[in-house]
Amino acid sequence: MRYLFILLLFLVQIGYSQNTYNLIPYPAKLEKAEGGFKVGLKTSISYDNDELLPIANMLASQVAKTLGKNPIVKKGKSASIVFTTNNSLGEEAYNLKISSKKIEVQSKTGKGAFYALQTLLQLMPASSFAENATSAEIQIPNCSIEDAPRFAYRSLMLDAGRHFFSVDDVKHFIDLMAMYKLNNMHWHLTEDQGWRIEIKKYPLLTKISSIRKESTVGHYRDNKFDGKPYGGFYTQDQVKDIVAYASKKYINIIPEIEMPGHSQAVLAAYPQFGGNPDKIYEVRTKWGVSEDVLFPREETFKFLEDVLTEVMDLFPGQYIHIGGDECPKTQWKESRFCQDMIKKLGLKDEHELQSYFIRRIDKFITSKGKKMLGWDEILEGGLSPNAMVMSWRGVKGGVEAAKQNHDVVMSPNSFFYLDYYQGDSKTEPLAIGGNLPLSKCYSFEPYLPELTEQEAKHVMGVQANIWTEYIGDIKYVEYMTFPRALALAEVAWAPRKEKNYEEFKNRVTGHSAILDALKVNYSKTYLKQ
Ligand code: ACM
Repeated sequence: MRYLFILLLFLVQIGYSQNTYNLIPYPAKLEKAEGGFKVGLKTSISYDNDELLPIANMLASQVAKTLGKNPIVKKGKSASIVFTTNNSLGEEAYNLKISSKKIEVQSKTGKGAFYALQTLLQLMPASSFAENATSAEIQIPNCSIEDAPRFAYRSLMLDAGRHFFSVDDVKHFIDLMAMYKLNNMHWHLTEDQGWRIEIKKYPLLTKISSIRKESTVGHYRDNKFDGKPYGGFYTQDQVKDIVAYASKKYINIIPEIEMPGHSQAVLAAYPQFGGNPDKIYEVRTKWGVSEDVLFPREETFKFLEDVLTEVMDLFPGQYIHIGGDECPKTQWKESRFCQDMIKKLGLKDEHELQSYFIRRIDKFITSKGKKMLGWDEILEGGLSPNAMVMSWRGVKGGVEAAKQNHDVVMSPNSFFYLDYYQGDSKTEPLAIGGNLPLSKCYSFEPYLPELTEQEAKHVMGVQANIWTEYIGDIKYVEYMTFPRALALAEVAWAPRKEKNYEEFKNRVTGHSAILDALKVNYSKTYLKQ
């Protein structure tokens, strides 16, 4: 009998020590503990500062999905779950202490509290994410966490140019980003194949440039088309709605307006900004890079400044992305106008002409108090003084820009292009190409050995890109994005010393129960690797 009792005691101990912590991204400091806090109908939530009220309410409504009733939320410090202000913490930091009696969240800002909330939610059973879960209580494992991000810039890019995603789709994408403490969404809004944002001064951008007469079917090398018109754009009211929605989740949206390349759709409506004002341009139907680019005419600069003025009014964040990538110089080379301009300005070649183009735009954006961001091609022909560089052709551009004392975002295609295959191309759905398993995404280290400690300070963070030539709907976006975006989130947030792929993979597998409850179409290909 005595032995049985000891055995029982032992089993209870084991039971407690089986607490799991499938946190993504992994926190800076986590002390695991036994036992747990039970959220039930008597649980109350308090906050000591009005900035924390929305976070307390978010917790209450999540808990209500399981309990069927919102717990009481009240101002003050006397509740079983307390959100309190701690001004000694960093802007994005939080402390979270969970004991059997109480949950204490400390943060300096609403943002820190929001990140604590994401951690807390991930510690709850997956069933608490499902609609209509019914249970009398929710058990959360005890622990003590002190957390803050490694990098300030943590981002995903969504290409709405090749395929259009509805307002609800974009909000859903934002919801998923927020779960992993990502804080910027780069929104690629203009492309050869479609212009996606209403600009009041240039109505033909939505009337003509947002619609292509047909789309590529299969891989673009096969030259097959579907014969069906395709289009879509966001009204300015919809943009404002999405920006406000994202800001409640502490996500800043960075708009990208491409120039001087990737602009064939603009020319379909306004040919006067291209090489041949007489040419009948069409919105491009084939994927790939167009030779039809903007020309550095005064009218073009006036157009771009008008567009950027409306865009800057819609997006309150600091960064405005102007593309700058993949601008073929063929037409500039063959143009009397461009060649005369190169001579008149004393430039060496077409690359310096592109640099002139970008510098003018940088000057304009800077004069409005914003910061210009561009793909690494903006280094060619000389980097404009205030530009921040997004390194996509590997890390070379990022390294070079950091050495020139410019801030950079590392978004190398070989690690973070989520349109690449994540497994065997014979068994995966059609993708652009490449080979980017989860483990490769996870292995990226932003502090490159080529950088000195001082130069490395210019690495603001990382971004993964979802280019959508081959990704036609949000379910497929989910498949390509998850779980690889979780690797990106961990590279961006977790301390370098905590990184361990096998352990991460186990956490992803444990955590995926939550993605199942949310009906996210994430890929399981990583399990076979
Ligand atoms: C890019 O992939 N052209 C930035």
